[in-house]
Amino acid sequence: MMRNTQNPLREGLRLQRTPEPCSIVIFGASGDLTKRKLVPALYNLGLERLLPNSFAIIGFARRPIPTDDFRRQMREGINDFSRKRPLDPAVWDDFSRHIDYCPGNFDEPDAYRRLGAFLDRLDAERGTAGNRLFYLATAPDFFPVILEQLGAAGLNRSQPGGWVRIVIEKPFGHDLTTARQLNHAAHAVFHEDQIYRIDHYLGKETVQNILVFRFANGIFEPLWNRNFIDHVQITVAESVGVERRGEYYETAGVIRDMIQNHMMQLLSLVAMEPPASMDADAVRDEKVKVLGSLRVIAPQETGAFTVRGQYGLGTIAGKFVPAYRNEINVSKASTTETFAAIKWHIDNWRWAGVPFYLRSGKRLGKRITEIAIQFRLAPLALFGNAQEGMDPNRLVLRIQPDESISIKFSSKAPGQAINIRPVKMEFDYGTAFGMEPPEAYERLLLDGMLGDATLFTRADEVETSWSRIMPILEGWTAAPPTDFPNYEAGIWGPASADDLMTRDGRSWRRL
Ligand code: BG6
Repeated sequence: MMRNTQNPLREGLRLQRTPEPCSIVIFGASGDLTKRKLVPALYNLGLERLLPNSFAIIGFARRPIPTDDFRRQMREGINDFSRKRPLDPAVWDDFSRHIDYCPGNFDEPDAYRRLGAFLDRLDAERGTAGNRLFYLATAPDFFPVILEQLGAAGLNRSQPGGWVRIVIEKPFGHDLTTARQLNHAAHAVFHEDQIYRIDHYLGKETVQNILVFRFANGIFEPLWNRNFIDHVQITVAESVGVERRGEYYETAGVIRDMIQNHMMQLLSLVAMEPPASMDADAVRDEKVKVLGSLRVIAPQETGAFTVRGQYGLGTIAGKFVPAYRNEINVSKASTTETFAAIKWHIDNWRWAGVPFYLRSGKRLGKRITEIAIQFRLAPLALFGNAQEGMDPNRLVLRIQPDESISIKFSSKAPGQAINIRPVKMEFDYGTAFGMEPPEAYERLLLDGMLGDATLFTRADEVETSWSRIMPILEGWTAAPPTDFPNYEAGIWGPASADDLMTRDGRSWRRL
């Protein structure tokens, strides 16, 4: 990895933000997320000296296992999944001393009393200062009971000068009603400013950069509106299938899994107004306004504004892959959608008349997430025939992989005649900064410890986004799909997704 001093672009960057001493309690510590993401992220923060001097990581789960075994599992997780590998034994030695395990049932009051006593002891012995970050990484069914028990044991209350926060993993609700219920359960115990709802897309460097790109530059924002932009396309494509998560995915589908959360976050960052400041609430106020301006797609309009798909058998990177209905724990007659495309309008002054096309799916051609802003054509074709069929200008924010920002424009090809060709100006994160970006979970855990909620979703934000999803789900339930599977694994979704664009005289970008 390049050192800061070797790369002039990184000079002067504010690199260090160290949180106050604290304990981090992970509920659901025996699950995949803890091993694959959370503990490796904390380890990487440790490597970069971003953890406080005094900290403790306490795994809380039902299985009664000795602390040493838990530490061993976490070591394996780091070895297999850490951004920086292999594990550095010296760093691990120190880091592992901060890891403990506390077994208990989520609905057992005594387990929370034991946890409380343990945390008090850590405060006294290790100087964790009474600051606590609770992290709900369990299956969502357990969120309400854990919230309730934390409250009953008084673990929601902070000590003078200290803090208590709770991070809640996704999915945040299964629909608007359950999202409201969960907000209600959380608010019964914690204040909104103690609650950190995760959407890991917000922790991605390239997603954070949407705001910097828009609001730290003078030249883009004046063009960022209906006068210059023809439409916006947001694609979140995955080549993987549902893997071993069939049981969960059957109840979710792509709309709950990707669109209600990640994609609506991307959309609100692209479409929001400049906030009054970069404070968490100022930023989130603007995002909520965008979601609130999204035109409701009524159930009877879903045929005109949305497309659903489910993958059948196909090939990806030269390998045969099974149809969704043949995945583990998936019904042979499943009508769960693995692909969706939506045409959305934002009814506000800035975006009136500019459609936002969203598409996401599993088992598509490749893994790629990008936001493409397509500008209007030049008002006059001054170069006559040479300009015919020319593509309009396009700005592409590539979120992942090969993170970059590029602008396409027309240029004269060298020669005596006027021949116009599209060319591209590109900024590539990897080459420009010469460093690997941190993982989303590193940033989000750090922000949770620092008390910066900007990259977490607020109660009203989650509810507003569900309010726009519900009518679509209603329409889909009323008219179940009859053509599933309707796209082969490895292509870009069903033909009807193309029709959604061609009807408007547009087309999806070829990726
Ligand atoms: C998760 C979804 O929220 O995001 C998964 O549950 C999906 O189905 C994943 O694969 C995609 O995240 P990323 O960071 O790989 O784009």
